[in-house]
Amino acid sequence: MDPLQMAHSGPRKKRPRQMGASMPFPPHDIKFQDLVLYILEKKMGSTRRAFLMELARKKGFRVENELSDSVTHIVAENNSGSDVLEWLQVQNVKAGSQLELLDVSWLIESMGAGKPVEMTVKHQLVSPMVKKDYSASPNPEPQMTSPLVKKISQYACQRRTTLNNFNHIFTDAFEVLAENYEFRENEASCLAFMRAASVLKSLPFTIISMKDTEGIPCLGDKVKCVIEEIIEDGESSEVKAVLNDERYQSFKLFTSVFGVGLKTSEKWFRMGFRTLSKIMSDKTLKFTPMQKAGFLYYEDLVSCVTRAEAEAVGVLVKEAVWAFLPDAFVTMTGGFRRGKKIGHDVDFLITSPGPTDEDEEQLLPKVMNLWQRKGLVLYYDLVESTFEKLKLPSRNVDALDHFQKCFLILKLHHQTVDSGRCSQQEGKTWKAIRVDLVMCPYERRAFALLGWTGSRQFERDIRRYATHERKMILDNHALYDKTKKKFLRAESEEEIFAHLGLDYIEPWERNA
Ligand code: CTP
Ligand code: MN
Ligand code: MN
Repeated sequence: MDPLQMAHSGPRKKRPRQMGASMPFPPHDIKFQDLVLYILEKKMGSTRRAFLMELARKKGFRVENELSDSVTHIVAENNSGSDVLEWLQVQNVKAGSQLELLDVSWLIESMGAGKPVEMTVKHQLVSPMVKKDYSASPNPEPQMTSPLVKKISQYACQRRTTLNNFNHIFTDAFEVLAENYEFRENEASCLAFMRAASVLKSLPFTIISMKDTEGIPCLGDKVKCVIEEIIEDGESSEVKAVLNDERYQSFKLFTSVFGVGLKTSEKWFRMGFRTLSKIMSDKTLKFTPMQKAGFLYYEDLVSCVTRAEAEAVGVLVKEAVWAFLPDAFVTMTGGFRRGKKIGHDVDFLITSPGPTDEDEEQLLPKVMNLWQRKGLVLYYDLVESTFEKLKLPSRNVDALDHFQKCFLILKLHHQTVDSGRCSQQEGKTWKAIRVDLVMCPYERRAFALLGWTGSRQFERDIRRYATHERKMILDNHALYDKTKKKFLRAESEEEIFAHLGLDYIEPWERNA
């Protein structure tokens, strides 16, 4: 495909296209035939541009004087992704999916290395995925600012959020602040920073100036102050203060134990505890079975689950489930379904078209029984179903579901997977892994799958969207149309999105 098509089929702007005009003189040998660079003058200035062009040519790069169809890499300095896209739009050029828009740091590193270095998120000004969207559907009406910024929805279910986050520096800061507000039970501020983090994760470019934040929803004054400070100083003083705060540090530590939530953390903090070892050795404290297991397998559980380990658990789950229900569907959900490379646990949804209610009800207990006999269960908590067919979906966007489920700690032997970690106790041949199993009625599988794939922020927003934009109620079990006063059935996630009038968002685009 031609990477530099014209945006509209109307009359073309005249641009010199012949190669001759851009041949360097005296000619340098071109070492990298596949790359054709164009260096953007905007915000760089003509002197520095001329210098970089000459240097790059000396190093064997082909650099064009003019933007032409053959250009494969546009290099810019002090421009954000939205700046470059805007500039391309003014030039009447679409950023085709094969055209790379790069920061000058890529060129400088490449010249230093004597060859093109690998392009990473750090270098790419615009995510490849967004460029594709952008070239597929040129914006019909001309706009003063970047159309990419204009279109952003306040709902995560109308944004595509991959794991390719261009704004880590901001979202990491927001997540610390949100967590601190959560620990202090300030829900409104917690939500404000979580929404802000979520929207920045969907941006196809890195924010480098306050101008880049124009038109982006969910960025209130408090959030903007933090952005401004990070742009200016590289860090936020508020985040620094939180990270050094004793209460934050203690809550972070206590809640890292499986079975310990805000209430318990609050209690321990008030009692003056600051370390886990003091808590564990205290004779007066009482622990729930879940917390006991949390302390017992603490080291394993805080070290993240790798994809290889998740796949190995998947094999065990399928094997056990199929021993009792051979036609059951077992799907890995949660973060791993969204393409994450690590997780805090492994989530599975189980459903089967065949069984009687009793067979369905008995599956998880049978699986637990089998694994216990094999010595694979380190802890489990089976939660019985409270599901009722005709119950309306919950309006609370954070409501828990009613399916039968099992929260467990599984003993994963290393022969199935070599995790390659060396910090393990001598001779220990297994790792404790947190696993969530959910069993749902077959006709509810699409809702359960959507609900258990997450992210949490994506789930909150799709439910909020259903309520406020469609007069419908959605949860992990069902979708109810309040206008038509009826339940809407769905066999697949695609059908749920269609009922809601939403474009389909793939699981790996739900990392909001
Ligand atoms: N979920 C739910 N009800 C629960 C627990 C979880 O509906 N009682 C859903 C949440 O919407 C969440 C998904 O299941 O998005 C997975 O939950 P969780 O394992 O906590 O999060 P992940 O996104 O998988 O992230 P991690 O890698 O930390 O496990
Ligand atoms: Mn998970
Ligand atoms: Mn989970």
